[in-house]
Amino acid sequence: MRVAFVGKGGSGKTTLSALFARYAARRGPVVAIDADINQHLGLALGAAEIPRPLGGMLTEIKDYLRGDNPLIRDAASMVKTTPPGRGSRLVRLGDPFFPSCRVAGVSLMVTGPFGEEDLGVACYHSKVGAVELFLNHLVDGPGEYAVVDMTAGADSFASGLFTRFDLTYLVAEPTRQGVGVYRQYRDHAAGFDVPIAVVGNKVQSPGDVDFLREHVGDALLTWFEHSPAVRALEQGRPFALGDLEPANLRALGALLDRLDRQPKDWDRFGRQAAEFHRRNALTWANRAAGEDLTAQIDPGFVYGPAVAAP
Ligand SMILES: Nc1ncnc2c1ncn2[C@@H]1O[C@H](COP(=O)(O)OP(=O)(O)O)[C@@H](O)[C@H]1O
Ligand SMILES: [Mg+2]
Repeated sequence: MRVAFVGKGGSGKTTLSALFARYAARRGPVVAIDADINQHLGLALGAAEIPRPLGGMLTEIKDYLRGDNPLIRDAASMVKTTPPGRGSRLVRLGDPFFPSCRVAGVSLMVTGPFGEEDLGVACYHSKVGAVELFLNHLVDGPGEYAVVDMTAGADSFASGLFTRFDLTYLVAEPTRQGVGVYRQYRDHAAGFDVPIAVVGNKVQSPGDVDFLREHVGDALLTWFEHSPAVRALEQGRPFALGDLEPANLRALGALLDRLDRQPKDWDRFGRQAAEFHRRNALTWANRAAGEDLTAQIDPGFVYGPAVAAP
């Protein structure tokens, strides 16, 4: 199951991604992926080292994933939305090709720091493209988790990345800006059948919860209180999940239970992979590649756990 944490900068995406990844690791294998502009997930997990960034190995990743797919001529003609087809290499969580390091019971993968060149809306070389390719070729099942720390920025809407998740957790502080980002995200995602739940953060009073309820309604799944344990972690003190306040631990449980209840929809996934690739090809990628990339869509390919069989 794949879950994204999105929200305004500073809302707590990285903090909650890291806590959730640790927590989910009690139940099954977890890959935590740092795809945020500010690369802090490793720090939040307490990593002593950071693995090789995926953003710096796009060509290798493309060559690996395209495998023997006859519809993809070479790595250069593979863009971030190029979907898998027959002959492509599908990956399982923990595929050793993707550099990761073990920390706090999870495997950490990172896109690498973003530069100016990465912030364009239709950027050919976007580092987040590495994550999109990975997710497009990932065949994951229940009880295993890919946790992605993302921004709520325009990039993921331009490419279709926002549709690559079983569930999206929008982290919102109980402020007008916090709930405003939720509305924007929801409106962008409208019509794409993308399940979104709001996770309140830095809640300090019942009034904060009322505020969130009033503005996001039933979309509010749960909330985290301001956490002295998280603050201590930020100050470099040793941290274990058991140090977390009971209410915040319960909130983690609510996130994991909700994700486990989410049905996998491979059909939507496949449909949207093709749809966004077509869109991407027509808006800019065909021009950039100098060929018709819509021909990469393999109508005979069907996503699903069956294709993952070794
Ligand atoms: N529930 C919380 N309790 C205490 N501090 C928090 C909590 N959530 C986030 N923080 C702090 O707020 C700051 C921003 O959080 P961060 O996770 O880095 O946000 P984002 O990744 O969305 O930019 C960090 O210093 C973090 O430790
Ligand atoms: Mg962050």
